[in-house]
Amino acid sequence: MHNERMRRGKRRFDDDDRGFADKRRALATARLATTDETAMPGTGDRWSTWDDAQRGPQPYPSWLVTELSAVDTELGVLKTGKEADVHLIERAVPGTGAACVLAAKRYRGSDHRLFHRDSGYLEGRRVRKSRELRAMANRTAFGREVIAAQWAIAEFAALGRLWSLGAPVPYPVQLAGTELLLEFIGSAGGQAAPRLAQLRPDSGELRDLWGQLVDAMVLMAGDGLTHGDLSAYNLLVQDGRLVVIDLPQVVDMVSNPRGLEFLDRDVRVIAKWFDARGLPPEVADPTALVDLLKAEAGLA
Ligand SMILES: Nc1ncnc2c1ncn2[C@@H]1O[C@H](COP(=O)(O)OP(=O)(O)O)[C@@H](O)[C@H]1O
Ligand SMILES: [Mg+2]
Repeated sequence: MHNERMRRGKRRFDDDDRGFADKRRALATARLATTDETAMPGTGDRWSTWDDAQRGPQPYPSWLVTELSAVDTELGVLKTGKEADVHLIERAVPGTGAACVLAAKRYRGSDHRLFHRDSGYLEGRRVRKSRELRAMANRTAFGREVIAAQWAIAEFAALGRLWSLGAPVPYPVQLAGTELLLEFIGSAGGQAAPRLAQLRPDSGELRDLWGQLVDAMVLMAGDGLTHGDLSAYNLLVQDGRLVVIDLPQVVDMVSNPRGLEFLDRDVRVIAKWFDARGLPPEVADPTALVDLLKAEAGLA
């Protein structure tokens, strides 16, 4: 539906002499006026979806292209998974130098791990319309879309909250349906940052990464949160900087009756990875870290 509407526009609005509101009105008119489906943006695959999407926290980062005349171009696939596919896209204003690279995480409406995962996590999440509830329960195609959109909503909310706390997470650019656009963690040339699991850090790097992880977990615990699916696959490392990703199932340790179980699991999984890579056990001590995080969350 989005794409269809995006394809209709023809004019571009690169001229800066008109006001923002004028440009926006003119762009909307242009998009609606033409029914010529071949009238794609001159370059790119769709118009920027920034206008219709729910946006990330303000202030917007300076690298983000927020012009409504921008177009999105698919650059390739970063990863396909059971629950979501992650694509690399460029959002750019044609004819200008303004461009940024984004990760598009698109939740699928058709997999099993998601269903398995949602049984515990989505419990208690409110869905108002009973038609949606029935469709979700019966796993109709529509119901699966609703579930996928809920995961996208949950991850967008978690990233916004964590970003605003100053946690090392990708900036959540926007949410539209089952698609999240995120700050791309990688090189300017489009090379994605490796997952921690792919790295073999030396002992100094290992200590440094562990320190960054503890800081991030302390920050989250201070807000009552633990990741909920923490592993060396959900941590990226860009030029030595640790970034926490994949947060739709973030757990509120205070309100979730199984909160401490998730905290315990998160800590043990990740401490085990660091331990196996040679970080001394007295540094990667899971019991001490759980105690510290419980205290941060006010649960000690
Ligand atoms: N913001 C991002 N920047 C760069 N790569 C990303 C980003 N988000 C996800 N990826 C890549 O996509 C993979 C899958 O993303 P993730 O959020 O873990 O989804 P899932 O594990 O549910 O499929 C990650 O392991 C990472 O390689
Ligand atoms: Mg993941």
